[in-house]
Amino acid sequence: MAKDLSFVCSACGAAYSKWSGQCDACQAWNTIHETKALASGPKGKTLGGMRGRAIPLIDLDTQEPEPPRTQAGVAELDRVLGGGLVKASALLVGGDPGIGKSTLLLQAAARFARNGLKVIYISGEESTAQVQMRARRLGLEKSPVRLAAETNLRDILTTLETEKPDLAIIDSIQTMWADNVESAPGSVAQVRSSAHELTTFAKRNGMSVIMVGHVTKDGSIAGPRVVEHMVDTVLYFEGERGHQFRILRSVKNRFGPADEIGVFEMTGKGLAEVKNPSALFLSERGKPAPGSVVFAGIEGTRPMLCEIQALVAPSPHSQPRRSVVGWDGGRLAMILAVLESRCAVPFTGLDVYLNVAGGLRISEPAADLAVAAALVSAREDAALPAEAVIFGEISLSGALRPVAQTENRLKEAEKLGFTSAITPHQAKQVAVKGISLRQSHDLAAFVAEVFGAR
Ligand code: TYD
Ligand code: MG
Repeated sequence: MAKDLSFVCSACGAAYSKWSGQCDACQAWNTIHETKALASGPKGKTLGGMRGRAIPLIDLDTQEPEPPRTQAGVAELDRVLGGGLVKASALLVGGDPGIGKSTLLLQAAARFARNGLKVIYISGEESTAQVQMRARRLGLEKSPVRLAAETNLRDILTTLETEKPDLAIIDSIQTMWADNVESAPGSVAQVRSSAHELTTFAKRNGMSVIMVGHVTKDGSIAGPRVVEHMVDTVLYFEGERGHQFRILRSVKNRFGPADEIGVFEMTGKGLAEVKNPSALFLSERGKPAPGSVVFAGIEGTRPMLCEIQALVAPSPHSQPRRSVVGWDGGRLAMILAVLESRCAVPFTGLDVYLNVAGGLRISEPAADLAVAAALVSAREDAALPAEAVIFGEISLSGALRPVAQTENRLKEAEKLGFTSAITPHQAKQVAVKGISLRQSHDLAAFVAEVFGAR
């Protein structure tokens, strides 16, 4: 018999057969709650014992027409959607509270409405007056977007059925309340059931639906991850509160590439698209200083340059600090270990701070070499050449590995006025006019060459 997995983690959606205090999957505490299974249909008979209906089967090469898309006319948004909003698709937009999801979606609603879609915006969090106030602030009060403040899902579905919009925006899924589910709004059961109802309604009626999901720290409210599997597209809106940059990232897209990003800037009049993010992320860079390097990265399909900063200082503590913003702490520990054991650059007794400037988050291993360069540069108090970009992956043996899309990275660097690049040695040479290459086979050789013999 199949195990009854009725305990579900509200943060990541992992299912368990019994309760426990900590989720094994995401390590969150007090997030596991019991949920009722979605049981329906005749009881007491196995599925095999009762005949259902025969499903029509088709060949793999049956020509399905491309799904129709509508563009918002905002390049940063359309790219993340894979070329526009697909008809009858279900999307989830997740993000921390206050990051700007409602602002983004109200602006998107106005754009789609202007481009011919009938759009309904349903807010479960704010009153209609609050949404209207935001619309006035954004200069969108004349847009043909219809608005309601409601949380009752049954009423919402009935309204959508009569109004027949092309796009419904639900802000947020955690405030929705399906009256056939016996648990509080925001619980895993409610959030899942609401998302399921909205998604199936959308598919059946040829309507697109965009659901907002707050990333929650509190275990009693379900996070967006519990519905990720139900929707076609999952976008996350990220950024640091103190910075004005916001990044919309597609983590799943059935109708386009995942890991694509759109860059926006939060201004007093809403979100503005950033057409040249590299220039923006480098704009605040001062004179070349020890510990600062420029990393030539790739986000989705586009190259993006950004500054990586390191600070290394003697530690007053018995256990020195390792602090990272915008990169993975585990990866930093690895780079420090490789520098210590393969290159004889010890960091014992030193505090290490690493920061990706501008509030950007980097997950590419290609940043390894840039991070190592920033660390050694900070430790040796020696600045790297200002006109150089750096990228490359570091293996545990200390070898440098070439990374994908070298040419695109170099072209972007050239476009922004850089004249050289420090990269791993490549079997197949890539040359870009205007960029001189400085290549090494391993990290120890790189350190010796760039920072002198040790
Ligand atoms: P909001 O869209 O309400 O965030 P979310 O829906 O993700 O919770 O935006 C919240 C912040 O954005 C708020 O602190 C104010 C700021 N903001 C601006 O800076 N400019 C603007 O034009 C708007 C509408 C909001
Ligand atoms: Mg909001």
